[in-house]
Amino acid sequence: MVDTRNIVLFTCFVLILGCKGQRDPSFPISKSSFRPILRTAISVPKGRSVSLDDIIIRHFSSNSSDSTAYRIKAITRLLSDPSFDPRRPTVLYAHGYIELTEDDSVLTIVKAYRQNGRYNILILDWSNLAFGSYVLVALDLKPAAVEISNALVKLLKEGLNVKGLHFVGHSLGVHLLGAVARNLSTRGYVVPRLTGLDAAYPGFYPPILSTPASPSDASFVDMVHTDGGGYGAPQSCGHVDFWPNGGTAKQPGCLPATLLLTSEDLCSHWWSWEFWSEAVAGEQFLGRKCQSYDSFLRGQCTNTQLATLGPSIDVRLRGNFYLRTAAQRPYSLGVRGID
Ligand SMILES: *[C@@H]1O[C@H](CO)[C@@H](O)[C@H](O)[C@H]1NC(C)=O
Ligand SMILES: *[C@@H]1O[C@H](CO)[C@@H](O)[C@H](O)[C@H]1NC(C)=O
Repeated sequence: MVDTRNIVLFTCFVLILGCKGQRDPSFPISKSSFRPILRTAISVPKGRSVSLDDIIIRHFSSNSSDSTAYRIKAITRLLSDPSFDPRRPTVLYAHGYIELTEDDSVLTIVKAYRQNGRYNILILDWSNLAFGSYVLVALDLKPAAVEISNALVKLLKEGLNVKGLHFVGHSLGVHLLGAVARNLSTRGYVVPRLTGLDAAYPGFYPPILSTPASPSDASFVDMVHTDGGGYGAPQSCGHVDFWPNGGTAKQPGCLPATLLLTSEDLCSHWWSWEFWSEAVAGEQFLGRKCQSYDSFLRGQCTNTQLATLGPSIDVRLRGNFYLRTAAQRPYSLGVRGID
């Protein structure tokens, strides 16, 4: 339950702080600024339950905007949906901490994959377990991962093609999918690809709360870092790691002065799914292999390997890749991003 009084007090406090200097407000505040904070005070979203049975997989068909929801226990019904083609590649996207599938992140990702058109689009809706205390949510990833892998094993046994499976996660969703992939591999199904969009940092590097996603989870693991050392992992943790604009806050287009856990403060972390979505929809993000962003900027890596951030990467590549982006959509700069 929400402790309304605390939230009201906190909000007043912040609004007073934010409005004190009318001419030069130090903290930007919008209508949605405090949504993430409010969600940390709610233990479960409205209409949901903390039961593992209430984890949902939503299927978005590529020719209509609505989705069909399947409880993971009943997931095999998905196979009788005519718009789900088990022979096509399938993307399974997992949102992050305190996120809902009606949030911008998920809507942006779904829109991009529908534009791409090549994939069955599955959204792992684990928001029933992703609210409340970050520590508790992160500690409890494993039982959820086991339930999700049970569901996927059923699909794989009944005809889903494992070769076309691509896991894409954001923040805590990366570590959740890492755990799912690890479980699947112990049961004979090696996930070909896991993409991490700014994998969650607190409690994972070092691994205090749960095991972080790693290159051993899938045949190919690629990571996109946008808030390294903040909400996102500060170190390389894939076969390939992309570091757009250095991979740390503040990303271009994000506000410099923000309050912790407001949507403005999460901006750099959220840029990871913005970049990925654009790449899925067809924009080009080229990264250049280099030892550091500093060396990259100083032009010390002019003849090194290039990698394309996005679904069509060459999976034989290894290492750290750097690029610059624009400060607003379209973020992609193509070859100009590695000048
Ligand atoms: C979408 O495609 C499926 C299968 O191809 C078809 O059965 C369904 O009617 C289509 N829906 C729309 C809204 O076009
Ligand atoms: C994977 O899932 C199975 C089946 O539910 C479970 O028994 C097993 O402990 C899990 N393995 C790991 C490594 O999590």
